[in-house]
Amino acid sequence: MIVLVRIFINGYGNIGRRLASSLAVDKEIQLVGVAKYSIDDKVKEALENRYDVYVPKEGLNNFKEKGYKVSGSIADAVERCDLVVDAAKEGVGYDNKKNFYEPMNRPAIFQGGEDRNGERAVADMIHNSRVNYDKASGKTYVIQGSCNVSGMGRVMQPLIQNFGDRIRRFDIELVRRWADLEDTKAVKDSIEWDRNPHHQDDVKDFIPNANLYVDAFKVPSRMMHLHHMFVRFGDGGGAPTKGQILECFRNEFGVATISSAKGTGDVRKKALELGFPHGDTNMVHIHQDILRVQDDTVKIAYSDDQTGMVIPENYLLIQSMVFRRSRDEALKKADNLFQMTKRRTILEEEFK
Ligand SMILES: NC(=O)c1ccc[n+]([C@@H]2O[C@H](COP(=O)([O-])OP(=O)(O)OC[C@H]3O[C@@H](n4cnc5c(N)ncnc54)[C@H](OP(=O)(O)O)[C@@H]3O)[C@@H](O)[C@H]2O)c1
Repeated sequence: MIVLVRIFINGYGNIGRRLASSLAVDKEIQLVGVAKYSIDDKVKEALENRYDVYVPKEGLNNFKEKGYKVSGSIADAVERCDLVVDAAKEGVGYDNKKNFYEPMNRPAIFQGGEDRNGERAVADMIHNSRVNYDKASGKTYVIQGSCNVSGMGRVMQPLIQNFGDRIRRFDIELVRRWADLEDTKAVKDSIEWDRNPHHQDDVKDFIPNANLYVDAFKVPSRMMHLHHMFVRFGDGGGAPTKGQILECFRNEFGVATISSAKGTGDVRKKALELGFPHGDTNMVHIHQDILRVQDDTVKIAYSDDQTGMVIPENYLLIQSMVFRRSRDEALKKADNLFQMTKRRTILEEEFK
């Protein structure tokens, strides 16, 4: 017998829309609906996709007056679900937790824009399916790491497992896109730096011993992030060969190894051209052509699909938190739903 878990997605932006289209087709999940806060063309899109739309109580009449079918208030949706996947704009998840999830006793998954520490912390762990999948089992509140933090864990953990103490430190120069493809905000012609990137501390939440240093630069692009990772090796054998590094990623979920892309735009455009859902690859792509071993240092550049990375990650987190499945079983389900192995093979062939 299939046990249906009722899930409400609070937010219908870049992440919420993607979560909705994948969760809606899973036979064990009943999508209660999605939340809309602004009256814009995305309300129409959600209704055309046959999602029930929930709105703030004070806005019920406004949406109805515009002719939109509304299924109830945010509180109604939280009441009707077993789990909320919060996909609110950055920082608002905390207020949602205080106003709805806690008083109504509902577990929730938050996104990477929420705080892990401090006064507005929403949960006591950040999930990365490659590292701490099991720890999320049965938890009430968990943050799904951001796209960059998810990608970092996915690349660092296989290296740590293979080379352990030989690794002295990781340095990552994070080159960030300015906006997502669907965003209406302008892309500014400037390279901006982040005075206090959160990624380093976020990664240490699930890999506490990582000697990791991250700097982040935002560039005028909408096409994915690029991480340039420097892995420094100490005594005891020096740096591995390029072949040994690539071997670590051969069977990794959500890691493609490609050679002939000239930039992040090539990968994104290929995903669009191939008709991948939402134009996402949902993975990281190691650019083999610029993977270098120099003296004690291995330099790995990989592009990180900003909008797609966290969608299978949220799905895996649901498998741990709610269904309490083993990681192997959850990965099989995620592979089936997102066709990760198939799409990785296609990308590797396209960019060989
Ligand atoms: N974009 C990415 O590439 C990416 C990748 C990984 C993680 N994330 C994280 O995912 C979260 C969402 O990002 P996003 O890019 O999807 O943002 P977004 O496109 O700006 O969408 C944010 C959504 O939040 C809704 N909203 C407004 N007030 C809300 C409330 N009180 N409760 C719930 N939702 C509310 C907005 O509704 P209306 O549109 O109706 O106003 C909008 O649909 C952030 O924490 C972000 O850091 C984003």
